[in-house]
Amino acid sequence: MLSVDANEKLTQVGKGTPMGELMRRYWHPVAATVELDERPTKSVRLLAEDLVLYKDRSGTYGLLDRLCPHRRVDLSYGIPEENGLRCMYHGWMFDETGQCIEQPFEETVHPDGRFKEKVRIAGYPIEEMGGMLWAYLGPTPAPLLPRWDLFVWDNVLRDIGETHLPCNWLQCMENSLDPVHLEWLHGYWSNYQLELMGTEARVIPPNKRHTKISFEPFKHGIIKRRTYTDTTEDDTPWKVGHPVVFPNWLRVGTGFQMRTPVDDTNTIHWHYNVYAPPTGVTAPKQDVIPHREVPLRHEDGRFAVDYTIGQDTMAWVTQGAIAQRNLEKLGESDKGIIMYRRQLQEQMDIVAAGGEPLNTFRDPGENEIIELWQENQLGKRLVLPRNNHVPLDGQWDPETGDVSVAPTGKHAPVGLRVQRIYDEAAEAAGIKLQ
Ligand code: FES
Ligand SMILES: [Fe+2]
Repeated sequence: MLSVDANEKLTQVGKGTPMGELMRRYWHPVAATVELDERPTKSVRLLAEDLVLYKDRSGTYGLLDRLCPHRRVDLSYGIPEENGLRCMYHGWMFDETGQCIEQPFEETVHPDGRFKEKVRIAGYPIEEMGGMLWAYLGPTPAPLLPRWDLFVWDNVLRDIGETHLPCNWLQCMENSLDPVHLEWLHGYWSNYQLELMGTEARVIPPNKRHTKISFEPFKHGIIKRRTYTDTTEDDTPWKVGHPVVFPNWLRVGTGFQMRTPVDDTNTIHWHYNVYAPPTGVTAPKQDVIPHREVPLRHEDGRFAVDYTIGQDTMAWVTQGAIAQRNLEKLGESDKGIIMYRRQLQEQMDIVAAGGEPLNTFRDPGENEIIELWQENQLGKRLVLPRNNHVPLDGQWDPETGDVSVAPTGKHAPVGLRVQRIYDEAAEAAGIKLQ
């Protein structure tokens, strides 16, 4: 249980709040690169700031205040020019630093005027990595954009999913420190959903349960370990575990789950999936990393709970816009959550005292690649589960790789296409897969 004040402190992300200042020390994903290739402006709301992301015709990215400082129209309707973004209303133009560089009528009337030099809006740095665009809203100089392994590995295929959630980011993260929900939400309850659908299939054996859970702080966050009724401490879920990457990511399964705070009551959940090929197989070159919206709800308004993360997102959203932690009753299954809240508090204190929090990188030598690890990995690479991304009511044909998904067809299980691509590449290379 937390006091109302402590809950506010952990959840509020606006400028000047303790968590808002901590979050401003990190680069956050704001778009898939392909989105700006398809349409060069995008409305972005990040850490309670309304912004516009754009790519000008020379290929430079910018992230500016959303509203034009002249008469306050929305610059996401603006025009990307050779160098800068031009407002559609009266043609003022801004460069990526937020400096106004043209005011057509003012310059006609006052050719020697210096008005535009006095007009500046927020202009935040943007970098591209791993098919995503990253923004930094904090004090300068910005730290390096961390080169976490999955964004920079070669010889892999990737895809990006995005889900908009009407709830605070901390609910998503606390779920990642709460392993015990696995056998209930994703097991028992999921099986109950299948029963309601009239199918015999069951996802998790009903008697599979956690028997032991453990959490350890490490230099990038917290490592989670566990044993189940059918595993021991010699198995990788205990020996290796998997990390929560400070402050707001989980590394598990096929990649990262990144929970980007839009504001206090909205979050974007990014699913960043990376598929390594089987040993000996080369991944075909991927010119574009695909991006898709993963819907929170079905068209009839019901939560899309027919796949694992859909079950998680349902749980987070039903906790309310901001969970009332002053009313909660924590037990043994929540000790990871308690450790994580303490870590957040410590790091907020470090920032308030003028220090640099966990996962701040300034030495390029340390940032060539930042390797993480996780259970169920083959060597250093992820194993692609055969049934990855198959919604519970979907059918995958292993012969063709085709998938029929009803009714949440938009999940577009790219992972399945990846499996087929690798199977074909193996066959072409004469490699027999198990
Ligand atoms: S409102 Fe943008 S140039 Fe006038
Ligand atoms: Fe979950």
